[in-house]
Amino acid sequence: MPEMLAFAASPAFLPSLPKSAIAPRAARERSHADPVARIAVFAGNAAKAGKISVDGFASVWEPCLASKQHRSTRSPLTLRVLEAMEARLPEPRGLAVQNIAVVNSKGGVGKTTTTICLAGALVDIGRRVLLVDLDPQASASVWLGAPSDGSELLEILLERDRDPIPTIRRLPMGLDLIPGGLLLTQFEAQTAQRPARDSLLRQALKRLPAERWDYIFVDTPGSFGILALNALAAADYFLIPVEAATLSIEPLVTLFQTIEETRDALNPALKCAGVLACRLKLGARNPFQIMDLLQEHFGDCLFRHYVRHNVNVAEAPAHNTYIAAYMRTSIGAADHRRVAEEFEMRVAADSTGRKVANA
Ligand SMILES: Nc1ncnc2c1ncn2[C@@H]1O[C@H](COP(=O)(O)OP(=O)(O)O)[C@@H](O)[C@H]1O
Ligand SMILES: [Mg+2]
Repeated sequence: MPEMLAFAASPAFLPSLPKSAIAPRAARERSHADPVARIAVFAGNAAKAGKISVDGFASVWEPCLASKQHRSTRSPLTLRVLEAMEARLPEPRGLAVQNIAVVNSKGGVGKTTTTICLAGALVDIGRRVLLVDLDPQASASVWLGAPSDGSELLEILLERDRDPIPTIRRLPMGLDLIPGGLLLTQFEAQTAQRPARDSLLRQALKRLPAERWDYIFVDTPGSFGILALNALAAADYFLIPVEAATLSIEPLVTLFQTIEETRDALNPALKCAGVLACRLKLGARNPFQIMDLLQEHFGDCLFRHYVRHNVNVAEAPAHNTYIAAYMRTSIGAADHRRVAEEFEMRVAADSTGRKVANA
């Protein structure tokens, strides 16, 4: 391994590298042929720009893993780049776990996609995330390769002393999941006579060791029934994905009114994490009119970033993982990464007392 490459990619030296020592021409010229050289070039460029991005490293480092030569040797340089990536992970949030209800009274708008891909993007920046699949259709559980009949989650909700921990599945991509399933359809009938039936998820989540996660995301069904109410009653924030292609504002305004009523009745501390435009087709006529329209109605509550329509996002479920883990270089991965960054800023801004628009 050429010493210069090791030097260029070494995290310890990057900030102090003189420009002339970064991304040497020899490395640039070899970069097409040699994945290790590509790492060095990238590291050099990142240092030149004064920052090293984990994603940038990852996207350059992945070809190394794919290359037989470096997968087998796990060269010291590859290991150093790995260390650099890990060293660049953000500090632990050090804040209390935040519960996020992902809601919309319409199906097919992108709730499950947002839940999984946003959660995945947060895992990629070192956050610890638990997903609760509160949808009897169990799309999130099936997507993540952990289908269930929903009986365990139903029991957690119905039985006050039931420990939720044994039902949590640790998934290979670093997400934790409490799977949902068809038996959740029985929740409504089985709680008909129970007082405070809206708060059963909140009670159940209180039995979890909260310090174990930064975020708990709850995916909800497409109808605004008792399960969605439970998600809102248990949440610190709600997040509303909207399908930009077939957007109609009326139902959204009604949804906001319902959420306001729920907040007043069940959970006065509930805040708006944001309205997120999903599946925006930039090729379509005037896509930004949609953003303007949403901005007009929802103001600061609208995510500044949006998620574009991207076929790779629709392919990800077949690979049982979130978009960035399936195809890191896809548009869908980039969009969810930006949304995750904005999401964290919104939540952090709010938890330090700065204003985030409420519904
Ligand atoms: N950004 C996107 N690009 C392409 N297809 C998408 C995107 N987001 C969602 N979809 C597709 O839209 C459909 C509905 O999304 P889903 O997340 O299941 O909605 P919901 O949970 O609200 O019912 C799915 O088939 C999904 O693959
Ligand atoms: Mg869904």
